[in-house]
Amino acid sequence: MTEQPIPAMLPLSPADIRGRRQWPLPKLADPNAPLLEVRDLKTHFRLGRAWVRAVDGVSFGLADGEALGIAGESACGKTTTALSMVQLLPGNGKIRGGSVELFGIDLVQKSERAMQRYRWREISMVFQGAMNALNPVIRVRDQIAEPIQYRLDQPEGAARQRAIDLLDMVGIPRKRADAYPHELSGGMRQRAMIAMALACDPAIVIGDEPTTALDVMVQAQILDLLERLRRDLGLSLILITHDLSVLAETCDRVLVMYAGRVAEEGPVRRIFTAPRHPYTRKLVGSFPNLHTDRRSLAVIQGQPPDLLTPPPGCRFAPRCDFAMPVCTEVVPPEVRFSDGVRVACHLFPTSDIATVGGSTLEGSTLGDMTQR
Ligand SMILES: Nc1ncnc2c1ncn2[C@@H]1O[C@H](COP(=O)(O)OP(=O)(O)OP(=O)(O)O)[C@@H](O)[C@H]1O
Ligand SMILES: [Mg+2]
Repeated sequence: MTEQPIPAMLPLSPADIRGRRQWPLPKLADPNAPLLEVRDLKTHFRLGRAWVRAVDGVSFGLADGEALGIAGESACGKTTTALSMVQLLPGNGKIRGGSVELFGIDLVQKSERAMQRYRWREISMVFQGAMNALNPVIRVRDQIAEPIQYRLDQPEGAARQRAIDLLDMVGIPRKRADAYPHELSGGMRQRAMIAMALACDPAIVIGDEPTTALDVMVQAQILDLLERLRRDLGLSLILITHDLSVLAETCDRVLVMYAGRVAEEGPVRRIFTAPRHPYTRKLVGSFPNLHTDRRSLAVIQGQPPDLLTPPPGCRFAPRCDFAMPVCTEVVPPEVRFSDGVRVACHLFPTSDIATVGGSTLEGSTLGDMTQR
């Protein structure tokens, strides 16, 4: 397979994208259901007699062909959210509530055996630090061919050919397809991992920090590749990264997580140009760009809370410059604005929604406040 031309008409409609599928929708799928709807997901880790509330009531959706970025400081639950979707949690991890609906099918209710119909075939994942996760004694081509052969029930020859085509598509020349992982550069190994994630032609690919360990040139190439695959294959992406500039370039929407919950979610431009949640404001303010002097960047003082015993109310309150008495007592309800942003913060009482609208922050409670 050589590089596919980028279609002239963009974006593709959901029907176009579903029409490109090589494999039929799962039997139980509702063709009119959204691609992915995660509702009130709660994934905790057992530690002795207690639970680490790593993901504690997270909801979001993903449409056909869309790219959603997940941002947030270390340990806020990004990887755990992703691993919950494919149900590859460590032994002490458990989904204790909520649902992950794919085409209207709740994957949380599925047994491990049933999950095999969906994992890799419908949702695949490039793991954090995956570059070193390839088996060192098996040729990359054969590592990619294996899931094609066994999960899609393809003959060995055809599976190998598809593996070589996939490697070619991600920029690894055909003649290098029989290399062992150590014979490839870091960037090439990362591409091989992406090829592996694409092996079964999934509807959704989750990339957990897929470019973090790479130099900026290779990083740019990998991001271009993901963008092209998205357009050519109608792929939907969930991209997890600390690097906000990567999200700004690649994603349609951004979900900002803090301490296992959603702080804010919305169209990428709104999140970066008019962040509403004080945490998002800090996060955006703490990120360098070419025009800022690194010494003048805002620092988010303090640490995220211990998720074994998270604080009541808003989990960001102990670090928030705008915290009010209510913030330490009551979990902030989620408020939706007409510009497609939702925020969980007491600075935006539900009664403000009509007045705040989609324009600027000026009309909001936060806009009127001076930082304490
Ligand atoms: N197996 C485990 N047992 C107990 N706690 C865990 C386990 N795995 C993760 N955690 C905890 O769950 C929380 C969320 O971790 P997670 O790896 O999802 O964070 P993250 O946002 O992906 O962080 P990073 O940006 O560093 O990758 C953290 O507090 C972490 O310590
Ligand atoms: Mg992580």
